[in-house]
Amino acid sequence: MSNKLVILGAQWGDEGKGKIVDLLSEHFDVSVRYQGGSNAGHTVVINGVKYVMHLLPTGILHPHNVGVIAQGMVVDLKALKEEIEDIESKGNRILHKLYISDRAHVVMPYHKLLDKLLERKNGIGTTLRGIGPAYMFKFMRKGIRMVDLFDQKVFEKKMEENIEFVKDIAEKVFGEKFEIDTRYIEEEVVRPFEFFKDRVIDTAKWLRENTKSVIFEGAQGTLLDIDMGTYPYVTSSNSSALGLANGTGFSPKYFKDAKIYGVAKAYLTRVGGGPFPTELHGEEAEKLRERGGEYGATTGRPRRVGWLDLVALKHAVDVNALDGIILTKLDVLDGYPEIKVCVAYEYNGKIYRDFPASLEVLENCKPIYETLPGWKESTKGLTDASKLPANAKRYLRFIEDYIGVPIVMLSTGPQRHEYIFLKEIV
Ligand code: GDP
Ligand code: IMO
Ligand code: MG
Repeated sequence: MSNKLVILGAQWGDEGKGKIVDLLSEHFDVSVRYQGGSNAGHTVVINGVKYVMHLLPTGILHPHNVGVIAQGMVVDLKALKEEIEDIESKGNRILHKLYISDRAHVVMPYHKLLDKLLERKNGIGTTLRGIGPAYMFKFMRKGIRMVDLFDQKVFEKKMEENIEFVKDIAEKVFGEKFEIDTRYIEEEVVRPFEFFKDRVIDTAKWLRENTKSVIFEGAQGTLLDIDMGTYPYVTSSNSSALGLANGTGFSPKYFKDAKIYGVAKAYLTRVGGGPFPTELHGEEAEKLRERGGEYGATTGRPRRVGWLDLVALKHAVDVNALDGIILTKLDVLDGYPEIKVCVAYEYNGKIYRDFPASLEVLENCKPIYETLPGWKESTKGLTDASKLPANAKRYLRFIEDYIGVPIVMLSTGPQRHEYIFLKEIV
C-alpha cells in the first residue's frame, strides 16, 4: 500500500468515509484531517459501539495512530473537547496522540451566530456550525488562529474588533440586537484551549519530519467543494483533492506519489439545499431513505435521496484524478427489481455529459437514465466477491465502464468487517 493515501468524498458528503478510513488507517502511522470543521460527521461502528467523528481524524481511534488537525481546518474548541471526552469515556485514550496546527483558525461563537443570520437570507441549509463565517473571517484576514490564543493581548484585541464588526452586521443588516457576553467566549474558547495548549504545534513541520505513512481524510465531498461543487450550494472549503496542499501546508509535489480514492454511495444523497438532478420524491424517496438510514450524522436532518448520478461521479473522478472508487451501501439496493443510473443530463434540447458549472442547468436539467436489472439476493455483510449476485456485478461493471476507473473496494454494511476488496489498494 502507498505510504500516502487520500480518502475523500466523491459525492455530496456522507458517502461512508468514516467507515472506510477506520478500516484502512490500521495500516498507517498518522491520520490527517485538512479542511472543514465540525460540519463533518463520520460514523464508525467498532464491535457494535458507534462513534461519530466531527473534528478528529477517524484513524486516531486505532491505538497506534497519531491524529493531526491540520491548518486548513476551522476548529470549534468546545466541540473538540467534548468529542475527545466522549471517546475517552468509551475507554480509548487519544488526547496524548493528537496534534493541532497553530495555523488552524478558531470557530468563534459569533461565527455560529452569523451562520444563523446568513442562513435567513441565503437558505443554503448549512449545518449552523459557523463554518462559512469562520472561513469568511479567514479570507477577510480577520480570523483568530490557534497561535493567537497563546497571547491574551493579541487574542483580546482581535476578538474585540471582530465583535464590533459582527455587531454592525447583526444590527445594520439583520436588525438584530447583538450582545456577546465575554464569559461565553471564556467558556467556549479560552477554557477549552487550556485543555489543548500543549497539543498545538506547527503540524506541517512535524509531518515533514516524523511521518512514515499517512492517511488523509477528506470531509464533505467533491460536489460540496467551494470551487468544483454546485456553487453556491457548497461548503466553504476545498473538499476535493484541491484542498490537500493548502489544507496541510505541503507543496503539491508532496502528493505526486499519493494514491487518491473517492468514496461514493451506490446511490446518492445530499443534505441541505441545492440542485440534485436524480432526486427521488414521495414514496420512492421514503423507501430509499429508510432502507439506507439516511439521516444526518451531525444534524439528524433527513437526507435527500436519489439514483446514482454518473455525470457527477465522473466529475469527481476527473477533478481529483482518482485512482479508483470505493463504493459503499451496495446492500441498501438489495431487492430493487430495477436500478436506474443517470448517464447524461438534458437541458433546453442540449445533452450534457460533462458536469455543468451553471446552477440554472443543474437545477432544471432532466436526468437521462439507463435502467439495469436489480438483484433479489442479500449482499448485506458479504465479504467474498465471488458471492456477489450477477446483476450486482453487472451494476458495478456499468459504473466502471462509464467513469473509466476501477471500483477497488465495496462496503456491504456499516460494521468494520463488512467489506470486499476487489483490487489491491496500492
Ligand atoms: P461520512 O460522513 O462519509 O463518514 O458518512 P456518514 O457517517 O455521515 O454516513 C454514512 C452512514 O452509512 C453511516 O451511518 C454509516 O454507519 C453507514 N454505512 C457506511 N457504509 C455502509 C454500508 O456499506 N452499508 C450500510 N448499510 N451502511 C453503511
Ligand atoms: P461529511 O464530512 C454532508 C452540507 C450542508 C450544507 C452545505 C454547507 O459528514 O460528509 P456548511 O455547514 O458546511 O456551511 O454547510 O454543506 N454539508 C454536508 N453534507 N456531509 C457533510 O460532511 C457536510 N458538511 C456540510 O448540509 O448543504
Ligand atoms: Mg457524514
